[in-house]
Amino acid sequence: MSDKPVLWITRKLSPATEARAARDYDVRLNPEDRVYSGDEIVAMSSEVDAILPCHSEIFSADVASRLSDRVKIIANHSVGVDHCDLAALKARGIVVTNTPDVLSQATAEIATLLMLAAARRAGEGDRLVRSGQWTSWSPSFMVGTQLTGKRLGIVGMGRVGLAFAHMVKGFDMELHYYNRRRLPPEKEMNGVYHETVEQLLGHCDVVSLHCPASPATLNLMNSARLSLLPDGAILVNTARGSLVNEAALIDALKSGKLAAAGLDVFQREPGGNPELSKLDNVFMLPHIGSATRETRDAMGFRALDNLDAFFSGHEPSDRLV
Ligand code: DGY
Repeated sequence: MSDKPVLWITRKLSPATEARAARDYDVRLNPEDRVYSGDEIVAMSSEVDAILPCHSEIFSADVASRLSDRVKIIANHSVGVDHCDLAALKARGIVVTNTPDVLSQATAEIATLLMLAAARRAGEGDRLVRSGQWTSWSPSFMVGTQLTGKRLGIVGMGRVGLAFAHMVKGFDMELHYYNRRRLPPEKEMNGVYHETVEQLLGHCDVVSLHCPASPATLNLMNSARLSLLPDGAILVNTARGSLVNEAALIDALKSGKLAAAGLDVFQREPGGNPELSKLDNVFMLPHIGSATRETRDAMGFRALDNLDAFFSGHEPSDRLV
């Protein structure tokens, strides 16, 4: 029998991550890559010392209360931890970590892609060419919004928000942002700080969401806040679906209040929202903000770094509780 800690990796991770994990731990893998239910997580917990889950495994208060005492650490393979009831896990004495930093660039790339695709009608164009229905061209055909010189509003100027602001500097957009705390001047990139989201929204031709999901940000973009945007604005969301009230978003996209939206995250995942799918002016991706080979390795290694620190008696650098 191995004397290594038993580690359950709940989803199929990058080959390099699984190889490193197998070298250092007694691993339980999930080669079929299926999603485990709360009851299955609880059942499995009595066989393992540590769990390395993704945001697809839900550690609700109920699941946390039923986890085996054997589980000492949950080392998430995600920066977002809204799938974990941190207070309930803390109450059980279970350490929880995440993987900040390493996915900021990849997620900023997807935010850039969504902003461009929404502004320049990329989804519509692709569908047209692909369907064989592209039968004519004229100067009034598929005219979109130019981003150069427009106002970009960032809600949540943390790691990803900042990476996105840096990445799109070449568009010469006027930067505005909301953050719980104003950034120091050397980090602000000449952006205009707004003390509330409401104050920010009137200054956004494009608004991009980069704040964590929490009870405070649930339905952040509701109909009242969407109405504060200038007519014809564009909404980008790479953070979490719960930040946007999708019924209000659909109304705004139908009425023309919003010219377009670019979404990588949805209230219901996987699956998305069939009502959004009926609209031409929304460009959607299936939650792939961090899905690059480089970032998947980096996320896996970061989660393993946290586990290694914990099992060698040190403080994991990304400990949340
Ligand atoms: C994250 O890390 O939070 C991404 O959304 C992928 O889970």
